[in-house]
Amino acid sequence: MNIQSKQKVFLLTLLSIVFLSFISCEEKKTIEKANDLTVSEGFKNPLGFYDATPTFSWKLPVAEGVKHQSAYQIVVASSEDLLPDNADLWDSGKQMTDQSVWVKYEGKPLESRQKVCWQVKYWNQDEDASAWSAVNHFELGLLNNSDWKAKWIGLDTKKEKILGSQDNIIHRPQYLRKGFELSNDVESARLYITAKGVFDVAINGEDVSDDVMPPGYTPYKERIETITYDIGDLIESGQNTIGVELASGWHSSRLGWRKELWVDTEAPKILCQLELTMKDGSKKVIVSDESWKATTNGPIRLSEIYDGETYDANLEMPNWTTNNFSDRNWEMVNTFPVTDAIRLEPKRHTTVKSKIELKAKEVVEKDGAFIFDFQQNMVGVPLLKVPMKKGETLKIRFAEKLSPDGSFYTKNYRTALSTNYYTASKDGVIEWMPKFTFHGFQYIELSGFDTSKTPSTDWVTGLVQYSDFEENGTFASSHEKLNQLQSNIVWGLRGNFFDIPTDCPQRDERMGWTADAQVFGPTSIFNADVYKFWASWLQSVRESQYENGGIPWVVPDVLFNNKVSAGWGDACAIIPWDIYNRTGDKRILEENFETMKGWVAYHQATTKDYISSMGFFADWLQPLPKNGDNRGDTSKSLIGTAFFAHSAKLTAQTAEVLGKKEEQAKYEALFKTVANAFENKFFDETGKVKGVEETQTSYLLALAYDLLSEGKQGNAKKYLLEKIAEADNHLRTGFLGTPLLSRVLDEMGDTDLMYKLLFNETYPSWFYSINQGATTIWERWNSYSKAEGFNPQKMNSLNHYAYGAIGEWVYERIGGIEPLEAGYKVIRIAPEPKSPLTSASAELNTPYGKVASSWEINEGTFTINVTIPPNTTAKVILPGTAESIEETNNIKAISSETGSEELLVQPGTYTFKSKL
Ligand code: BGC
Repeated sequence: MNIQSKQKVFLLTLLSIVFLSFISCEEKKTIEKANDLTVSEGFKNPLGFYDATPTFSWKLPVAEGVKHQSAYQIVVASSEDLLPDNADLWDSGKQMTDQSVWVKYEGKPLESRQKVCWQVKYWNQDEDASAWSAVNHFELGLLNNSDWKAKWIGLDTKKEKILGSQDNIIHRPQYLRKGFELSNDVESARLYITAKGVFDVAINGEDVSDDVMPPGYTPYKERIETITYDIGDLIESGQNTIGVELASGWHSSRLGWRKELWVDTEAPKILCQLELTMKDGSKKVIVSDESWKATTNGPIRLSEIYDGETYDANLEMPNWTTNNFSDRNWEMVNTFPVTDAIRLEPKRHTTVKSKIELKAKEVVEKDGAFIFDFQQNMVGVPLLKVPMKKGETLKIRFAEKLSPDGSFYTKNYRTALSTNYYTASKDGVIEWMPKFTFHGFQYIELSGFDTSKTPSTDWVTGLVQYSDFEENGTFASSHEKLNQLQSNIVWGLRGNFFDIPTDCPQRDERMGWTADAQVFGPTSIFNADVYKFWASWLQSVRESQYENGGIPWVVPDVLFNNKVSAGWGDACAIIPWDIYNRTGDKRILEENFETMKGWVAYHQATTKDYISSMGFFADWLQPLPKNGDNRGDTSKSLIGTAFFAHSAKLTAQTAEVLGKKEEQAKYEALFKTVANAFENKFFDETGKVKGVEETQTSYLLALAYDLLSEGKQGNAKKYLLEKIAEADNHLRTGFLGTPLLSRVLDEMGDTDLMYKLLFNETYPSWFYSINQGATTIWERWNSYSKAEGFNPQKMNSLNHYAYGAIGEWVYERIGGIEPLEAGYKVIRIAPEPKSPLTSASAELNTPYGKVASSWEINEGTFTINVTIPPNTTAKVILPGTAESIEETNNIKAISSETGSEELLVQPGTYTFKSKL
């Protein structure tokens, strides 16, 4: 901008200030009300809520006159008609602050079952007040074990001594029912229910919900989650019936490889309590107890997580969840008291649901069986509509990929049989889906159907199942393979967020591997509203921490081997920090601070002179290892020491945010000491790795975690570039090194090289798997190739999200959206457009609302459209030379550190142009 136009801008600004002050003396305008109200980690009007000390968040509308918030008021009451003037639970009063997210409730203590109504108003930047928002509400679940009058009930399913695929005792699914009579009409009714196992519940013949495999997967010996349903519409005056199907689920199936732990699992049980308020105000409670009856002679004969489900339609029991059924031949149930040993708590995040339906795209015959291809690797179950002959058994197998000869490839499922069977009770088209198991697959093979009919793709629909969160981030570009990579990342997320973050969804694992989770965390938070999901799993992490501070390899811990691994256990510090950065909610740090400290202490205990001897998975699955080992070439001690330092640093940063000065100083000092020891032990005076194998990952750890003194950093960068060049500009990183690659090259300003690595087509690279037909992220850089077929190693999942961690860089540098202040209160929009891209766009739903960045290059002109949500500001950095930007109240040029045009931009939607 030249001097004259600067003067013009100054005058204009002055005028507008005068004008605004004039307006503010006038009568205040009413502005549009706040919307999208949520409680705690983003729950909308939850029922059976877990949190008696919630936080409140709202969004300012995208509306004329609304840029920032200057104050808010929240009112909270026990009934809607008390609002806004008679808030009996809490009135925050007018608070002069721009905080519109994560405001802590400070009212009267809340109790189990309590219904809470709330609304909010805010004042904008000019102190105009909004109207009150719509009233939102939440209702607490049963918060204490003492709230439960019910007993655990179930049959002794061990007695039958049915052996599973590994000679382990497996439990026949149970059917449990109870009839009860009501002499009055019901005003409201709640069902509180859970299982040691997984359940599906119906009342008077109607499904209570479409939840998949509730209550989900937690460290069951510590805590079991409970679910609350509103069943008011299902209950009738007079006679009623409740029926529950119960199967092993994660609780009583085999999981992991320690056979002694699952060879003889506990028989599944349910716990349920119906609480009814009648129209006359009286209350009635129906509980699971000795009055219930049960059978194992129902149609679901077997159901296991790894092995699949077996169904016999001949054993169907029509109407068994209605009043028109006799359970005379059923057994009495065993009962077990609720004790304090296992905490019963309302579920902390949303249940799994069937979220997407996929049609089969193609069907081909192979050796008498028919193979249906979805052309997309997915997780969930099939919905089958298949013609059958009475008495015949349909066999349903799953595969992620076919062998090059077209045959079904199931070797990589290892011992997981992942097979369903359905026996028909009559001729005709059956309609069925398995209920208590799930599969990871692209292909389904059917045999045993009515062979007089020709198979068609509409026989099979894929129901894609994952935890019920919204997908709220998008990325697209002008490059087909980059778009495919984004699609693969999103499918990896859908496939592995099945109540817990899993390593893979198909083989005999499906466990909460901690490193996989920490590397994929930031990418997941961009693509979907997964704060609740992570906060919930982190609770399980805390509950699984060993006495000595160690964090198990997998959470929930099903291995119980007391073993730890650097880069795995560090998830307990890395994920809370990442979530804080993306949400700005300090509570995630408060909740996890003690766990981080315990973990850092554990690290310390494995060191001598601050050098770690922590072993294990190291830079897992690094490609082309010299030693042929899955653990790669980078020294374990170097990795352990780097993560020790890094976790100490994150603990210091956490202490700082929480205002714990002493602990901040303590962990900062520890970080420095460890960094120093690391540098002296593993780097020579020129900044070159010494004494251990020199790898890309060793430099990446040192640089990403800031472990070298300034003098050595420059050389270390040079050596890193040499290592990359030596690999013909290809990565040589495994699970731990890969997410650091983009971070370090980025800090080095070497975006060109990162583009090169990202757009590489040859092994090892992201596009290599795409060139081999991948529709999800693979466990290995070379899990499969068209030329050589499957990687010979049996540990070879085709749906493993870890390497999808590159998503974070793609959104931040190509899409250009990044938080500058925790929670996107200040946003950085700075795409780095490079060949071969000519356009890209990204959109994200931040805690303040939608932020969007969409750019294209046309004949050397870069054009970007940005949307900045209310109550935030953005720093927009344009590449090249900006074209005549006029400063306004909403756009100010700021001094630039980069030489590029930098603008401070207020909420709104804008278009900027620059010459490249
Ligand atoms: C899992 C992982 C995990 C690893 C640990 C594998 O079996 O699938 O992804 O992180 O073991 O080494």
